[in-house]
Amino acid sequence: MTSSLFSHQVKNLKGTMRVTGDKSISHRSLMIGALAEGKTTVSGILESEDILSTANAMRKLGAEITQSKKENLWHIKGCGIGNLTEPDDILDMGNAGTGARLLMGILAGCPFSSFISGDESLRKRPMQRVITPLEQMGASFASRSKARLPLVVKGKSCLSPIVYESPVASAQVKSAILLAGLHADGETTVIEENPTRDHTERMLKSFGCNITTTKTDDGKTAITVTGKPELKACDIIVPADWSSAAFPAVAALITPDSEVFLPEVGMNPLRFGLFETLKEMGADIQAENIREIAGEPLCDIRAKFSQLKGVDVPPETAPSMIDEYPALAMAAACANGVTRMFGLGELRVKESNRLKAIADGLTACGVKIEVEKDALIVYGTGRPPKGNAIVATNFDHRIAMAFLVLGMKTEKPIEVDNASMIDTSFPNFATMMNKLGADIRKDKK
Ligand code: S3P
Repeated sequence: MTSSLFSHQVKNLKGTMRVTGDKSISHRSLMIGALAEGKTTVSGILESEDILSTANAMRKLGAEITQSKKENLWHIKGCGIGNLTEPDDILDMGNAGTGARLLMGILAGCPFSSFISGDESLRKRPMQRVITPLEQMGASFASRSKARLPLVVKGKSCLSPIVYESPVASAQVKSAILLAGLHADGETTVIEENPTRDHTERMLKSFGCNITTTKTDDGKTAITVTGKPELKACDIIVPADWSSAAFPAVAALITPDSEVFLPEVGMNPLRFGLFETLKEMGADIQAENIREIAGEPLCDIRAKFSQLKGVDVPPETAPSMIDEYPALAMAAACANGVTRMFGLGELRVKESNRLKAIADGLTACGVKIEVEKDALIVYGTGRPPKGNAIVATNFDHRIAMAFLVLGMKTEKPIEVDNASMIDTSFPNFATMMNKLGADIRKDKK
């Protein structure tokens, strides 16, 4: 069902918001918990549509996953590596790219055939990047067209270990190979030129897996996992998702007289590029009370209104802020001067073609932009953009949230044509933003 929302200009945003749990860590907790022996307990899991798709898939594969609402905990009774069972139904991953690709890695090591599908957006996303290494390990795949979902995975209980250098900087590809590597005899290595988020590595370590990260002679990162470990269930605490927190943070930075406090936000160093870039833009944003919980670093974020300035964002930064470009582009639209973001090719294969969606949306809102190959150039004037536009979200949650944030600043309201997808990553986004002072609603004022 589609549902549009309007965001109106507001005076300020103030208050505290405990943003919902980290999506990347939530997916991994359900999958690795299902592969472990014993009962894993997860607190703070993101209860969004994407995560429910992963939970349902792992249930169909034999894991017992229950929720105790009272204590806000999820329990996973794992099957142990090699013991997942053949699903008697299709595994529907909905909108979840991370869910689908990581699951393909797990299914590669299961000696049966599984059918995976997803929604219209997921069925358009490229899967060859995962299929290529998993086929090298011994799994086979069949799909109707061009390595897209729906597809069939024919797994093997004993995969061959490989050394694989991925042509794309992708934590999903890396994680799929590492999860398949758990089912291989020997050591599987993934080499990355530009390191990507290492949640899989951190979590596997917490479950007792032998996994190491080293530097190669030519400065690349090599991650090696030893196959057939006994994963021991453990307790996981999921921090708030920085990729979601980026929206209230940027909203406060662009809205005069604002200050928001966002506690317990994950600050995985390989995912914190937006924070550094906002600082370079002159943002008054602080990471306070930095600590480590359950193997992941976290902090409390405080963001105050700031007059931002345009900056250049080099391509090497892209993996560390790949999901945050929609939020950054809104900050750039309100900044003084030109922001040039390079190396954005991967944005074309996200939940939508995000590069195009950002460019079209900003143009509709009266912001001057240019797209040159894989670069997005945003010409900020330091004044509020015009707004008064209907932005096409193309069923993309982060495009919807980004433009609702921009609408808090623009002269006239912004309407996003479909906000329903926000529930895939940030349920209650509009209600929570409105508690800080936003004016997001179903109709125009
Ligand atoms: C994710 C990795 C990223 C990111 C996605 C979550 C993950 O995708 O965009 O939202 O949890 O591993 P890629 O690996 O395709 O860059």
